Amino acid sequence: MYRDPVESLEPLHSRPAAIRTLRVGMIGIGTVGSGTFRVLARNRADIAARAGRSIELVIVAARNLQRAAGIVGEGVPLTADAMHVATHPDVDVVVEVAGGTGPARDWVLAAIAHGKHVVTANKALLAVHGTEIFAAAREKGVVVAYEGAVAVSIPIIKALREGLAANRIEWVAGIINGTTNFILSKMRDEGLDFAAALAQAQALGYAEADPTFDIEGIDAAHKLTLLAANAFGMPLRFADAQVEGITALQGLDVACAEQLGYRIKLLGVARRQASGVELRVQPALVPVDHLMAHVKGSMNAVMVKSDAAGLTMYYGAGAGSEQTASAVIADLVDVARLDGVDAAQYVPHLGVHAHAMNALSVLPRAAVDTSHYLRVPVHAVGQIQAVTACLAAQKVPVRQVALAAECSGTGPQVLVLTGPVVQGTLDLAVHALQARNEVAGPVVTLRVEALEG
Ligand code: HSE
Repeated sequence: MYRDPVESLEPLHSRPAAIRTLRVGMIGIGTVGSGTFRVLARNRADIAARAGRSIELVIVAARNLQRAAGIVGEGVPLTADAMHVATHPDVDVVVEVAGGTGPARDWVLAAIAHGKHVVTANKALLAVHGTEIFAAAREKGVVVAYEGAVAVSIPIIKALREGLAANRIEWVAGIINGTTNFILSKMRDEGLDFAAALAQAQALGYAEADPTFDIEGIDAAHKLTLLAANAFGMPLRFADAQVEGITALQGLDVACAEQLGYRIKLLGVARRQASGVELRVQPALVPVDHLMAHVKGSMNAVMVKSDAAGLTMYYGAGAGSEQTASAVIADLVDVARLDGVDAAQYVPHLGVHAHAMNALSVLPRAAVDTSHYLRVPVHAVGQIQAVTACLAAQKVPVRQVALAAECSGTGPQVLVLTGPVVQGTLDLAVHALQARNEVAGPVVTLRVEALEG
């Protein structure tokens, strides 16, 4: 007899009692933890409907219990002992949103050892200790989920793991730190100085506890390491990433880049090459008419180039309390639905391609091939020729040359855009330029990223 497939679905309320509440223990109730508490409470019914069962916060560990009580009220037991939450017999999933790489590693490994799934937004922890943590999780058959760790509100890990599962990924590039993008936007659009813009980012809860991680590019490199692992199925190689932040960036170069039709953004780039993977975070020139140049404030954007889907781009808040909570709770819903899933699904380098991708190395800086912007201070306007001749002799292709319009008391500046050239060749050319009498000060170089298919 024909049965309507819709009618034959069991309504949720008649399911067996075995589909029980997912019990969550949370470690940390700062910016991300408090957002997670609020959103879980506010959207409780919708979240339960999507997860197929209710998700309850059963215990919270906090450093400051009085402050924590002000957030969670009477409803949720509090403890100062994070390890108590990590090992609690009534907890199915541990949400680690305390941050840091020391104690957090111990809590997460203890939770895994006790057979608990883990959801974390802690990119530093996973970039540095991920290989050990994922191996332990696989051994125990539990999931370590981390959507909130990368470009918080953008489901980019899910897009790479699921939406683009059919593709061979060629490169991933993007603005993956909200704080630095906020600072660059405020400096450019409102003329704020660096310190004032950083102070605003801190007040809005965008910055890391130690903002050096943001402004020196370390936080973006943590996230890029996770993106590369998902895109290419390679192990986490944070220690091999080239990392440069925005502290050495000069206002003069922001103005000169604009004159040439570019905007400077802190980009993370992971690109597959025949001999290895580029893994680098640097301030780079992006064409002003590219979507990436218009990502402002604390927003993030990630582009993925893959063989079948082609170019795709993802945009959303890159920092913030409920923005990160959104990703943390999405992971909880996944765990609620997929309890018992093959943990390797969340651990790309432990999956089916393990042998091939474990062998992939990260390319050394000298081998990375892009176009470049050069700003060369000279003594006199007539010395442009000496600069271009020197670059030609060093086999650096020159695409465009101009004099800086804005050099406010610094003397004439020759601006050069090169064609693609490997960093090793460019380094030799800059060394040769620097030795010439015509050159009046340090030569500045930045990468140019076309971000095209
Ligand atoms: N400090 C981080 C940022 C927070 O600014 O992007 C989100 O990961």
